[in-house]
Amino acid sequence: MCGIVGILGTSLVAPQIVEALKRLEYRGYDSAGVATLNNGVIERRRAEGKLRNLEAKLQETPLAGSVGIGHTRWATHGKPNERNAHPHATDKVAVVHNGIIENFRELKSELEEQGVVFETETDTEVVLQLVSKEISNGRKPVDAVATVLPRLHGAFALAFLFAGEDDLLIGARHGAPLAVGYGEGENYLGSDALALAPFTANIAYLDEGDWVIVTRESVDIRDASGKSVDRQKYTINTGSFLADKGNYRHFMLKEINEQSEVVGRTFSHYVDFASGRVNLPVELPFKFQNLKRLSIVACGTAYYAGLVGKYWFEKIARLPVEIDIASEFRYREMPLEEGEAALFVSQSGETADTLASLRYCKAQKQHIISVVNVATSTIARESDVVIPTLAGPEIGVASTKAFTCQLSVLLCLAIAAGRARGTLSEDEEKSLVDSIISTPGLISETLKCEQDVEKLARDIAKSRDVLYLGRGTSYPLALEGALKLKELSYIHAEGYAAGELKHGPIALIDETLPVVVIAPSDSAYEKTVSNMQEVAARGGRIILLTDQTGSQASGLDNISSVVVPDCASVIAPIVYAIPIQLLAYHTAVLMGKDADQPRNLAKSVTVE
Ligand code: AGP
Repeated sequence: MCGIVGILGTSLVAPQIVEALKRLEYRGYDSAGVATLNNGVIERRRAEGKLRNLEAKLQETPLAGSVGIGHTRWATHGKPNERNAHPHATDKVAVVHNGIIENFRELKSELEEQGVVFETETDTEVVLQLVSKEISNGRKPVDAVATVLPRLHGAFALAFLFAGEDDLLIGARHGAPLAVGYGEGENYLGSDALALAPFTANIAYLDEGDWVIVTRESVDIRDASGKSVDRQKYTINTGSFLADKGNYRHFMLKEINEQSEVVGRTFSHYVDFASGRVNLPVELPFKFQNLKRLSIVACGTAYYAGLVGKYWFEKIARLPVEIDIASEFRYREMPLEEGEAALFVSQSGETADTLASLRYCKAQKQHIISVVNVATSTIARESDVVIPTLAGPEIGVASTKAFTCQLSVLLCLAIAAGRARGTLSEDEEKSLVDSIISTPGLISETLKCEQDVEKLARDIAKSRDVLYLGRGTSYPLALEGALKLKELSYIHAEGYAAGELKHGPIALIDETLPVVVIAPSDSAYEKTVSNMQEVAARGGRIILLTDQTGSQASGLDNISSVVVPDCASVIAPIVYAIPIQLLAYHTAVLMGKDADQPRNLAKSVTVE
């Protein structure tokens, strides 16, 4: 999604704004720009493509001024070109925007009827023109913004800069995150703490509907009614995740390799290894034994983690789970019995559809718990209880370590549920915890398969389509593997339940189609072998991800295998995530794709 930065500084701000925007690159973008005040006059530099293009422009024609705003744009309305790049400006005001103004068409017609001529194809420009008109009609900037904000519908964060106002920035938050940074004689606005890290660790997040009037000496946060309010201040330890790739070529590869550490860290937050019991450090707002069912809602990779969680909750705790993707759930108006529980899985904690689903469930008087990776995110702050993943900031747009940490948390919750509901004996819990304890080491072992996987990626990189198959908890892994491949390499890939092969997908099978089969030698293995025989009989090219036993028992010649260390089936989804992530990563790199910022994608989808 788009990134916003604003600085009320004491020296040249343009270079600082660009540095801050670099920390927002991970969100995905396709153009960027900066606006500053030079002797009270708004000046801009904007460029299509990566920040280096904007830097080149600023080298050529630097921007003066100690107050400014900057933006990385992920196009929603209008092509990703310089004309549509933010900041948008008139001679009176400049604005940067993250999100979507849903009623921009009617506002645009109203303004055009009043003779306003629009320069861009964006929804953002209606905000600019509305505020500019209010100022032209004599309103002060604060009043102009206060008048316009209530007219805007949709999910957005905004930052404004005003001609002639060298000591003023205004920010607003309505469905997309915006933080205020507190400095010494300087103050800041930013989409998240990472952007503000170079300047301050003291930040506050605006709440829904808040807007903020910032000068170098004051920060006045107002609620939607215009009343001044206090918002909690956080001291963010940004040092721990200042963006650097270490000795890895991409953040994604670094984050794949961090999984042993971060999965171990996450498990140790929820498991008392000494007693061999799960020990949730949070008080849940419900008792598992009182639940008739649990709703799980998420998007993308987080949804696939939730799908694995469904298998675990139902098998370990005999707790029925209803799971749905958030973009469908939020409009289904599913009947929910008061007092049941809803669980939301989200790395960013800002995904619009997931947040909207949370609010639906809250309105239906569900207990709300969320598994998130950003503890200060909106989903976290609107949940009754947060159950954090400890993956650390995930910079690669494609989710990897967050996924395995989400699985880790969900497994601990399922075990806690089993104990509470009396479906898990003490010995059974100990055995599950033993498997948990072995997981970080198994991940490290599995990472050694990287070279084998890289060789297979050479074949995949030449393919037009790829099919992923799995049974049981390997089925969501098949879905996740297909998502990883398509979002990184842009090769069409589909995940399917292996048992569904005969119900249609088998028509796809021929010698041009690689079929990745995720099949630990568990209770479903024999059935999956039959599926592989059906594929082999039709010339399909099989890549089998399995363990030693599985690779010897397949009975199939001429197939490629990646042998994963033997592991308990309960933790197989975590361990088998590694080769599917590496396969997608290496395929993308072989194809020359940007593994950290795949085209068209954003790290956090804060719009519908
Ligand atoms: C995963 O690789 C994708 N980047 C995407 O599917 C992501 O998982 C999805 O957008 C959900 O994001 P969230 O976990 O931040 O809510």
